[in-house]
Amino acid sequence: MDWGMKNRMAQIIKPDGKCFFLPIDHGYFLGPTSRLERPGETIKPILSYADALFVTRGVLRNAIDPVKSKPVILRVSGGSSVIGEDLANEELTTSMEEIIRLNVSAVGMSIFVGSKYEKQTLTNLAALVDECENYGIPVMAVTAVGKELAKRDARYLSLCCRVAAELGARVVKTYWCEDFDKVTNGCPVPIVIAGGPKCKTELQVFEFVYDGIQKGAIGVNLGRNVWQHKYPVAMMRALHAVIHKKATPKEADEIFKEIKNKTK
Ligand code: 5RP
Repeated sequence: MDWGMKNRMAQIIKPDGKCFFLPIDHGYFLGPTSRLERPGETIKPILSYADALFVTRGVLRNAIDPVKSKPVILRVSGGSSVIGEDLANEELTTSMEEIIRLNVSAVGMSIFVGSKYEKQTLTNLAALVDECENYGIPVMAVTAVGKELAKRDARYLSLCCRVAAELGARVVKTYWCEDFDKVTNGCPVPIVIAGGPKCKTELQVFEFVYDGIQKGAIGVNLGRNVWQHKYPVAMMRALHAVIHKKATPKEADEIFKEIKNKTK
């Protein structure tokens, strides 16, 4: 691996080999989703606990302080919205010049394996990898399912992750599922766990993140379960402990409660 690629990977994955990415890219297809109406305000109290931000160029330029920011993973795919015909119909939305101009640590794009747009999103991934490798910029593939959340099982996700890695992704983001080790075992590049819609309890979040890390994930890319929560700082700090300090779900829950009680 060349110096530039190694250096950028080290910006987003910490020396303990783990990472906590904070995604605020949802507006690119959901619009001003709840609690992310003003992304700059949303992240103010929680950014310091994240290792990197996952964000589009529009929010990056308009809401993120270029001086005090964290490493950036730039979302570079899109083109469909939640009210459009098919969320899977994505293209690359950001040029290589723009990626370099914004001095990002990595880029991320969605692939929709098994959908009508499988080939389009996979060949876009391969083309993005070709370009980004020239400049030492890691590509994170996002195994997206659109509205079909039921698709998230080990058989399907292991296929998606392996395909993404074969096409050259340096990191793959995928959903947690039962038998998550089947997903990590079949994927030769690091996997980070996506969050998905908000869980009913905090403990459920700590449990799936803990299980995923035990089974080989290197961290998370988790948004709504943090910033849609009433106590986002407590969530960030508890998750940080699971990812970087090997806290169990029970220990994380205690950290959560302690910080929550202090902020009341
Ligand atoms: C949206 C994304 C998000 O980064 C991803 O879904 C993680 O966020 P959340 O934890 O809210 O699901 O890729 O397109």
